[in-house]
Amino acid sequence: MYSDKVMEHFMSPRNTGSMPDADAEGTVGDPSCGDTLTIYIKVKNGIIGDISFLVFGCTASIATSSMTTVLAKGKTLDEANEITEQNVIDALDGLPEEKQHCSNLGVSALRKAIRNYINKQHTK
Ligand code: FES
Repeated sequence: MYSDKVMEHFMSPRNTGSMPDADAEGTVGDPSCGDTLTIYIKVKNGIIGDISFLVFGCTASIATSSMTTVLAKGKTLDEANEITEQNVIDALDGLPEEKQHCSNLGVSALRKAIRNYINKQHTK
């Protein structure tokens, strides 16, 4: 059902854990399944230098969250903000049709973390 890459990111997710000294974080939930995800970012000179995540969710949400952090790390805030659900799905060599919505969590949490970071800079 899942690609080898999805299983690899599910079994050995990258960039896991909370980040107490994060510059910003974004939390989103999927009301239809109850899964929740928080993405933490550290930003230096406009670039996401470090990123991690904590998720309570399904196999696909773990794999897509992991891949979202891999794709975002080292990118500028603008570049990271443009990562799409389809980018994440493609990087995982596809997801079953009924699990494609799980990729929303990672992308939404990443965009929220970026938004929260930018808002913080404006209120400093
Ligand atoms: Fe909820 Fe996958 S079923 S994110």
